[in-house]
Amino acid sequence: MQNVRKSLVAGNWKMNGSKQLLQSFVEYFSQREPIAADVVLCPPAVYLGQASSQLSNTDVLLAAQDVSANSEGAHTGDVSVTMLRDVGCQMAIVGHSERRTDHAESNALVAKKAKALIDGGLIPIVCVGEPLEVRQAGEEEAYVEAQLKAVFEQLSVAELAKVVIAYEPIWAIGTGQTASPEQAQAMHAFIRQLLSQIDSDLAQEIRLLYGGSVKASNAQELFAQIDIDGGLIGGASLKPEEFEAICRAAKA
Ligand code: PGA
Repeated sequence: MQNVRKSLVAGNWKMNGSKQLLQSFVEYFSQREPIAADVVLCPPAVYLGQASSQLSNTDVLLAAQDVSANSEGAHTGDVSVTMLRDVGCQMAIVGHSERRTDHAESNALVAKKAKALIDGGLIPIVCVGEPLEVRQAGEEEAYVEAQLKAVFEQLSVAELAKVVIAYEPIWAIGTGQTASPEQAQAMHAFIRQLLSQIDSDLAQEIRLLYGGSVKASNAQELFAQIDIDGGLIGGASLKPEEFEAICRAAKA
């Protein structure tokens, strides 16, 4: 059953990188043997156009780190789904915890962004995950469930089937403190069980990524978990060799 899902590993550069790093990343990946997983690069928005043309002779897919829920108009600084499609993006991250914190993005807004992407033909990578105090209180499942329910309410089963979900416990992001494979698997199994309440096929098809201090040294044991279909990688995606090793650690 598990191999209905193709592994996916996405590199989220956050507000890091440069034209130079992009150039070296593209040169590196254009010379590598094919990778079994879907490999996705999420550079800052200003580099998406350059990334799209330079990645066109590689298998690497392109994703934005965020998108506006609005389709066009007076929204200074924002970027629409149509614009992302126009420059060659296939996907976009929504609801990353850093956006939820830095820009006070609510569960409802994240759900609207996911819906806008689906309507525009792009794949949302919906991020969820609890802060440390919520885990310490033993309330992480209820917290993640509330984040996901907002998205589930906006999308039909057919639309949800296109979504990728990334579980990223906030206490593990950029801290070097990875969730243990057991902690990550437990939450992924919980998310799949929530999906099975909507539709059992959906629960088997949808890809669930783990994110939070994934490195070449711990990727394999995380990705070996039955409900983990790949990862969302921050810091380690800035080093092409390390990112490649993480991509190759995903289940074939
Ligand atoms: P990290 O970030 O790999 O640097 O912990 C993951 C993320 O925020 O997507």
